[in-house]
Amino acid sequence: MTGLVDGFGRHFRYLRLSVTEVCNFSCAYCLPDGYRKTRPHDFLSVDEIGRLAETFQALGVGKVRLTGGEPSARRDLGEIIARIRRAGVAKIAMTTNGWNLSEKIEGWRDAGLTHLNVSIDALDPAAFRAITGHDRLGAVIDGVDRALALGLPTVKVNAVLLKSGLSGGFETFADFVRDRPVAVRFIELMRTGDNADYFAAEHVSGAVLRDWFAARGWTPRPRGPDDGPAVEYVHPDHAGRLGLIAPYAPGFCDGCNRLRVTARGQLRLCLFGEGGVDLRDLLQAGPSEALAARIRRALGEKPAGHRLAEGRSGDMRHLAQVGG
Ligand code: 5AD
Ligand code: SF4
Repeated sequence: MTGLVDGFGRHFRYLRLSVTEVCNFSCAYCLPDGYRKTRPHDFLSVDEIGRLAETFQALGVGKVRLTGGEPSARRDLGEIIARIRRAGVAKIAMTTNGWNLSEKIEGWRDAGLTHLNVSIDALDPAAFRAITGHDRLGAVIDGVDRALALGLPTVKVNAVLLKSGLSGGFETFADFVRDRPVAVRFIELMRTGDNADYFAAEHVSGAVLRDWFAARGWTPRPRGPDDGPAVEYVHPDHAGRLGLIAPYAPGFCDGCNRLRVTARGQLRLCLFGEGGVDLRDLLQAGPSEALAARIRRALGEKPAGHRLAEGRSGDMRHLAQVGG
């Protein structure tokens, strides 16, 4: 089978798969009142995920990232990872809030996890608690260190750029990567259906960080063809890197290389798009050719880019709904 290409010549070798909408944190920009169950939890089963992974693998997808909600809210997460590995996917990544990372990471690694992203929006314990609702900064950092000690091929940290997360300045994060070989990537806060007031109070422009990099001798690293949207910076005195993901920057969507499938089996062509293509009926039975054909057809309709700059953020209320 030939690979997945859209009407703008973009190749898709990367799938972000949400495995649950449930999350145990209550990040102020995402689920400020915590997760509330509004529909039955009929999320994709391990078998359905296996069929999906096999089909995307045959279509040239070499990397699957598990997202949520919080993926580790699923008790069968290890089985899910092992099933995706059996489907022949080379790179298996996960984004987690890290709450149980130090206990679980070894099992996930043994099941086949290769890439780990941990969310840490503040390195001050009180600020971390204020943002996430949980006093767990120390445990999350222990988890990152455990993953590094286990030699996972890639360990990264995501930090949403927030006024309150930066109480100690960027220096705190630079110190964090002085001896740790991790990349901390700051993500500009995105406006979603639910977080307009928080966005107005807490949004920090990536330009502030770019100026900081320039003033402190951090230099941008050359980018590879399959790199995601982050621009990473290096410094001779630091083992790790700092980076910036700026979804509002012009041209951000030009290099889009990712597709998303929700925890209920909907293919979403853009994080900020509207609606999705239901794949679920074809995940339960039937030959994977039909599934592959439906995915290809959907891709023909992928839009050129999001329209955030025009104040349009699609029908997404918060990222736990689609999985970052
Ligand atoms: N803007 C930017 N990043 C967000 N995340 C969740 N919601 C938003 C938002 N509105 C981040 C999380 C995590 C990743 C899955 O997405 O903090 O790092
Ligand atoms: Fe949970 Fe992630 Fe949303 Fe925080 S950002 S509430 S960890 S889903």
